[in-house]
Amino acid sequence: MSDQRPITILVISSYFKGEAFIEELKRQGARVLLLTEEKISGEPWPRGSIDEVFLMPDLTRHQDVTYAVSYLCRSQAIDQIIALDEFDVETAAALREHLRMPGMGITATRNFRDKLVMREKTHNAGILVPDFTQVLNYEKLHEFMNRVPAPWVLKPRAEASAMGIKKVHSQDELWNNVNHLGDRQSYFLLERYVPGDVFHVDSVTWDGKVAFANVSKYGRPPMNVYQEGGVFVTQNLSNNSEDAKALKKLNIQVIKALGLTSGAAHAEFIKGYDDGQFYFLEVAARVGGANISDLIERATGVNPWAEWAKIVVAETRGEVYQPAKPRQEYGGLIVCLARQEYPDLSGYSDSEIAWRMNKKQHAGIIVVSPEQQRVQELVDSYTQRFATDFLAVAPPKQSAADMHDSH
Ligand SMILES: Nc1ncnc2c1ncn2[C@@H]1O[C@H](COP(=O)(O)OP(=O)(O)O)[C@@H](O)[C@H]1O
Ligand SMILES: [Mg+2]
Repeated sequence: MSDQRPITILVISSYFKGEAFIEELKRQGARVLLLTEEKISGEPWPRGSIDEVFLMPDLTRHQDVTYAVSYLCRSQAIDQIIALDEFDVETAAALREHLRMPGMGITATRNFRDKLVMREKTHNAGILVPDFTQVLNYEKLHEFMNRVPAPWVLKPRAEASAMGIKKVHSQDELWNNVNHLGDRQSYFLLERYVPGDVFHVDSVTWDGKVAFANVSKYGRPPMNVYQEGGVFVTQNLSNNSEDAKALKKLNIQVIKALGLTSGAAHAEFIKGYDDGQFYFLEVAARVGGANISDLIERATGVNPWAEWAKIVVAETRGEVYQPAKPRQEYGGLIVCLARQEYPDLSGYSDSEIAWRMNKKQHAGIIVVSPEQQRVQELVDSYTQRFATDFLAVAPPKQSAADMHDSH
């Protein structure tokens, strides 16, 4: 440990998550300040690793947050501000710029928040993306729809929109949606719907180089799970598989094209059914949600939250980050919304079960084994059993919000 003055990290989160991040900051000897919202102050935050908690009613009120954190800085020497949740990324970026603190500012952050910017920059870097267009000029929209066959996906550039992602099948349907959006339409983009399997690469980057990456594949594409309901499944791949090798390379290219120099990233790709090619879908400059970090930790021994915390501390102290050494095991995560308030998982007793979810109205399990085949068997059988034992048929909006990245 360093003999410099203790560093102070302000962690901002409007959602309860990132316990492993906070705990690792403390283990590394940092002072940890947490800024969160009153309504989640009662969650089991790792209080023993937090020096002080600050509560506000609403972290989306940027002006109030700016005043509050500036006031805090009168008495606290804050070295870095870190956002745990997607919705706090912009808040943290604006604060860093205003308070003149290191890390990604507003423009840099935008590459990881705005799906249109992601499309433009990765496409310009030679990375394959679904054909896309900005929803702005009507002649260009016409031209796109005449050139690119339907269906298309109309999606918000950032998740700020309540309307969410829509699959659109005809020009009429598109214009109806665009008209309905009114003044909000410029906050959307339109792209080709690429049918395929969806993969995710969860990685940490230090000094412009990807230091750890884990490749996984969703059981069904997330859009199908949100919109049709059902059991959410993801499994990590063998590092030796062709898909994992190709996706690790692509992930490096994406991170370079969008300019992440240090921190965590969760990137998603579609492998087209028609051409077998990987299309870049999206990337966030944070740890993947929906318990993906728990899966990675059980399967590889490396928790991306903890690695990110080590990176933040090393960066702040001007030290060198020592990357973790992952092992290769296989893991599967199975989660669904449950009919029961506290679903009874006692009927699931295989020795490969490494984690059980403890959340109202949810059923969730992680299985881990050195044998990929065994994980596959368990995932297949548990997915079916979850569907009969627990699965709630919830209105799509609710399940989307709940299953996806915990919002
Ligand atoms: N162009 C596309 N082609 C096919 N499926 C898509 C496309 N864009 C999005 N999807 C589906 O919608 C889901 C959510 O889209 P994504 O861009 O990842 O937004 P977010 O995860 O922020 O809601 C994806 O996981 C995928 O299942
Ligand atoms: Mg996504």
